Amino acid sequence: MENGLANIQGRQLASKWAKTAALLSHGRIAPHIPPTRMFTKANLNNMLQVHGMVVIKPVRGAGGHGVIKVSKAAGVYKYTYYSRTSSFGTFDGMYKSLLANKKARPYLIQKGIQLATIGGRPIDYRVKYVKQPTGEWRITAIVGRLAKPGLFVTNICRGGTLLSGSEGIRRSFSSGAVVSKKREMRLLTKLSTAVLEGRFPGIGQLGFDYGIDRRGKIWIFEVNTRPQ
Ligand SMILES: Nc1ncnc2c1ncn2[C@@H]1O[C@H](COP(=O)(O)OP(=O)(O)O)[C@@H](O)[C@H]1O
Ligand SMILES: [Mg+2]
Repeated sequence: MENGLANIQGRQLASKWAKTAALLSHGRIAPHIPPTRMFTKANLNNMLQVHGMVVIKPVRGAGGHGVIKVSKAAGVYKYTYYSRTSSFGTFDGMYKSLLANKKARPYLIQKGIQLATIGGRPIDYRVKYVKQPTGEWRITAIVGRLAKPGLFVTNICRGGTLLSGSEGIRRSFSSGAVVSKKREMRLLTKLSTAVLEGRFPGIGQLGFDYGIDRRGKIWIFEVNTRPQ
């Protein structure tokens, strides 16, 4: 077991990279994972060129800590760390400043998703999936998390606000979208869990972080094995 950790909550896996790589191996799930690379200077430059906006996050992170948004538009490079945004005229200038804010540990880079919003605040969703004593998995919660004003991360420990998943979808899209978006999140949760359980036997509780972009496409940001 990773880190020697095993308890009644099930096996825990800290590496976002290992879990993301497992999900990318499934053809039905892969299109819902934002393109992801290990953090290097060349990968950052290249992904900014391709996607315009990216998010970098610690491979073993939680609670939105150390998550940084980086963008390139009209020759201007910007990054946002917590609520502070800095702008630069060159990639090298931005990169140097970024390194000063990053810790010396592995990070990954992910295509930045333009989340749907409520009152200008991004919203994403947490689906909690728990293995029952019978061996059957069950969804125990689907909640929306609305970012604290001024932040792009929605984590509750960073001041995000909880609301029901249905209310979140209704207010960021429409009443008509609630059933289909929840159904798709449930399906992706079920498929992804089968893949993860095959790869990492012993997992018992999962917390899926889903984003829905402004066009309504569902994205998997990460899967937690120690969900709150
Ligand atoms: N690719 C992305 N595009 C846009 N926002 C993202 C992206 N990845 C993460 N975020 C935002 O940052 C938050 C934290 O990222 P996450 O991957 O869940 O890491 P953790 O919660 O372990 O710190 C997410 O809930 C979401 O609000
Ligand atoms: Mg998360």
